[in-house]
Amino acid sequence: MNAPFVTTTATRETDPSKAVQTYPLPLLDGPARMAASPSLIELRQVYKSFATTAGTFTALRNINLRVGKGEFIAVIGKSGSGKSTLLNMLAGIDRPTSGEIWMGGTAIHRLSEGELATWRGRHIGLVFQFFQLLPMLTVVENVMLPMDFCHLWTERQRQQRAMHLLEQVELADQANKLPLELSGGQQQRAAIARALANDPPILLADEPTGNLDSKSAESVFQLFVTLAQQGKTILMVTHDNDLAKRVGRTLVLSDGEVIDEYLTHLFPAVGEAQLLAAMHKLRPVRYAPGEIIVRQGEVADKFYIVTEGSVDIIIPQRTGVELVVASMAKGQYFGEIELLHGGENIATARASLETGVAVAALDRETFAQLMAASQSAEAEIHRVADERLAEHAAAEQKEVPAAIAKADV
Ligand SMILES: Nc1ncnc2c1ncn2[C@@H]1O[C@H](COP(=O)(O)OP(=O)(O)OP(=O)(O)O)[C@@H](O)[C@H]1O
Ligand SMILES: [Mg+2]
Repeated sequence: MNAPFVTTTATRETDPSKAVQTYPLPLLDGPARMAASPSLIELRQVYKSFATTAGTFTALRNINLRVGKGEFIAVIGKSGSGKSTLLNMLAGIDRPTSGEIWMGGTAIHRLSEGELATWRGRHIGLVFQFFQLLPMLTVVENVMLPMDFCHLWTERQRQQRAMHLLEQVELADQANKLPLELSGGQQQRAAIARALANDPPILLADEPTGNLDSKSAESVFQLFVTLAQQGKTILMVTHDNDLAKRVGRTLVLSDGEVIDEYLTHLFPAVGEAQLLAAMHKLRPVRYAPGEIIVRQGEVADKFYIVTEGSVDIIIPQRTGVELVVASMAKGQYFGEIELLHGGENIATARASLETGVAVAALDRETFAQLMAASQSAEAEIHRVADERLAEHAAAEQKEVPAAIAKADV
């Protein structure tokens, strides 16, 4: 076959080796990557309220989150937005008012206090802003302390392991000092060694660099990077937006809600309040395999972001053959050409025949407001739309005569 853009439903089903030609699309790394592997952490509709003298205060609202093994995530947001409360939920230090928290397949919201403490000791390493090392114990004794509670190792092994961990954080020569004889950065690295004592798969750090000078902060951050590369899953609360930009994924908390990650990724320059309002307008919709999402020629009125599965973009041909011009995966979007240029859908969008699709749909007005608020996003989305239109025109020109198309099927 000599028309590279052409594929038909029949050829796709019967001959998977015939690749579908796609537009050169921007692959979104952040949310598109998220939970590509089976989730290690999963929160479902988590709410947390506190009873205060002024009445009930909701600190976390409808948190839905999946984290894959080995992800390094920054948690940012204004003071009081719920960052520490979220970490406390993940650590099982506090319980959700409602909703579910699954950690490595364990429903920790259902564990008793005793079970929770044992679970935490094995699975979670905690790092705090003010280190919280015990001042009367030496550095190596501090690192051994969590091992004493978990009974995974003999006394001799604990010693060896503590020294090994101190070597890993480059503090072996400080092992027998008291914490206050160390610099802030050294104390934090000792606290990280202690957090690693029982080899937990998950590290939760609440502003670990908040009390450090920039050089020490950098060395602590690099240590986290190395640990993530070694397979630890890390959530790090930080006020340092520059640090947050250097990790794979960022969660933005605002008034107890995690702002939709697709929106923060697509519209990075837009303010929190506007993103939060836009998020409340996002409509999740699921389509069965083969179901039509929008049809060519109908009036377009939404912007769609793929959140699960994929979507085939099709230009129906006069010959009756379906020209699949693109396939949109998780994190990619469609519908923008119609919203930018007005009028009807120039192509049909159909849920993948194999997987179906889940999308988040945004109404025309909210989309326009977000575009108006972010020059960089507007320019990027216009660029993608123009590129797609050019490809689209090229594909239409290559429309195959019915005889060739039939022969191909
Ligand atoms: N035990 C509690 N009782 C009542 N309110 C609480 C409790 N813990 C937290 N809150 C409230 O919940 C909200 C979120 O608090 P949280 O400590 O999670 O914020 P944060 O994002 O970590 O802020 P910061 O950056 O200042 O550390 C705040 O308004 C706080 O006052
Ligand atoms: Mg906090």
